[in-house]
Amino acid sequence: MNNTDNNPNYKKIYQIVKDEFLKTELFFSGPFDETYYSLRVHEMVKEIIEQIKDNCKVQQILVAAILHDIGKIKLDVSRLFDSNKKLDTAQDEWNKHPKLGVPIAKEILEKLGHSEEFIDEVCYLIANHDQRGEKLKIKSLELKILQDADLIADCGFAGFIRPFLYGSKFQRSVIGVQ
Ligand SMILES: [Fe+2]
Repeated sequence: MNNTDNNPNYKKIYQIVKDEFLKTELFFSGPFDETYYSLRVHEMVKEIIEQIKDNCKVQQILVAAILHDIGKIKLDVSRLFDSNKKLDTAQDEWNKHPKLGVPIAKEILEKLGHSEEFIDEVCYLIANHDQRGEKLKIKSLELKILQDADLIADCGFAGFIRPFLYGSKFQRSVIGVQ
């Protein structure tokens, strides 16, 4: 852990994520949209860590929380938007976002001066944040915390409103019928 790893510039990372999302056709920076959602996950991670009082890699999870969905900026809009295509196509495309986020996060964190080890740990969390249930046999405590935070952040009003935002952006029904 170098100095930057010990004191990540969360605000700066958030600003970069916000700028990247704003450049896309799909995502904007509204109160219920992706960047705000990253912050909800970030805050939820803090609360979980406070509760469990276990030793874990706090900075890595907090950084991963802000960056975990950044791969969405690389999703193929035509596969998500075309209402004539099957829902499976959109789902397949959507499922790519964890892996797509890895090189983007790596580049951002390298520029900010994080160590290779730190970046690898954050990227592991980003790449696997959607691997729930039996998909991944062994999970680190850090990944479990991020996954729980992601689930909890999706509950409540913001989580309720998101499917409707996506529904209108993707021109699809929110209950999955075309
Ligand atoms: Fe995600």
